Amino acid sequence: MIGRLNHIAIAVPDLEEATKIYRDTLGAKVSEPVPLPEHGVTTVFVDLPNTKIELIEPLGGQSPIAAFIEKHPKGGMHHLCYEVDDIYEARDRMVELGATIVGTGEPSIGAHDKPVIFMHPKDFAGTLIELCLLYTSPSPRDLSTSRMPSSA
Ligand code: CO
Repeated sequence: MIGRLNHIAIAVPDLEEATKIYRDTLGAKVSEPVPLPEHGVTTVFVDLPNTKIELIEPLGGQSPIAAFIEKHPKGGMHHLCYEVDDIYEARDRMVELGATIVGTGEPSIGAHDKPVIFMHPKDFAGTLIELCLLYTSPSPRDLSTSRMPSSA
């Protein structure tokens, strides 16, 4: 069902410092910071030839990744994102197989204005999994804008 690895997300306490590591030390191409207040994070995307790294820093007092940063003060891998052809079909399959979808259970709009769902790490070898829809026109369905989950 899953396709390409879309990105690996790394939660960091200091986005500027993490951006410097990727840009200056590792010599990668990095984006400008993008604040996503509705998800409680600011993101920087690192472009690699075969995938992306999403650096995420808590934004605001209610950030869903604040607890993660507390547990991992220097930052750490937060989730993996895989591409799927049909986010609703993927969601239905996950529900049918008994996996726990984080949040409302409905796809929300992720960092690239595409619908995403997050699946609980307890069902996926201890790793928070994001599934994202790519390469399709916007869905006619009414998408909720639930928050990025705080688990993992
Ligand atoms: Co992500």
